[in-house]
Amino acid sequence: MNRTLVVAGNWKMNKTAAEARELVDAMSAGLRSVENVERVLCPPYTSLPLLAEMLTGTGIGVGAQDMHWEEKGAFTGELSPSMVREFCEYVIIGHSERRAYFGETDETVNKKLRAALNNDIIPIVCVGETLDEYESGRTEEVVRRQIASGFADIDSANASRIIVAYEPVWAIGTGKASSAENANNVHKQFIRPALTELFGEENAQAIRIQYGGSVTAANASEFFSQSDIDGALVGGASLKPDEFIAIAKAAQP
Ligand code: PGA
Repeated sequence: MNRTLVVAGNWKMNKTAAEARELVDAMSAGLRSVENVERVLCPPYTSLPLLAEMLTGTGIGVGAQDMHWEEKGAFTGELSPSMVREFCEYVIIGHSERRAYFGETDETVNKKLRAALNNDIIPIVCVGETLDEYESGRTEEVVRRQIASGFADIDSANASRIIVAYEPVWAIGTGKASSAENANNVHKQFIRPALTELFGEENAQAIRIQYGGSVTAANASEFFSQSDIDGALVGGASLKPDEFIAIAKAAQP
């Protein structure tokens, strides 16, 4: 199965709009020169309109880092799917930082995932085990649970639009990336079979599974050479133009 690799930069809570303009200026030409790789930038909400404008016609997509599932109403501080859709083609859902600090659960992930698909936004859904879970050999159990609950009641016809990001929590922002072999095993032995159970073989084969957690220009090509690693969700290195461009280049077929 030939899956187009997708490289997304998660800026997290970094960059004012003025700084975002500089960062995009510094990386857009380099990113544009990358061929046959889906490229996405996910800045804070305050820079979404700016990036949407700056990246129009470049082939580089814009994503939000989160959103609410309700269409409107009394949800102070939240953005609805249609607000996100005004500026974005993608949305990150269930990032481990949202799960750890902001009460995100498999249930809210599921609501957001369904809202994204209903609103024609490509969801990047994060799963992954904590250090504790990893060390006690519970990776399979955790990612299978996150997928079984987080991806419940999704129409199989929509499944191939979903992007999964496997992000072991112990590898995020630590400089201690998973080995490429370990990540590929999780993708191949645990995540894709869980997706197959829900959506059938053909749909599961079409779903891109990114790896995330301390991806750099130095280790990216090792990840991308694996059979079941279909791109990367990049945090820290996505704030460094040369690094992020090099990561996107490494994903070229
Ligand atoms: P990192 O973050 O690349 O800085 O480890 C990845 C992520 O949280 O998406």
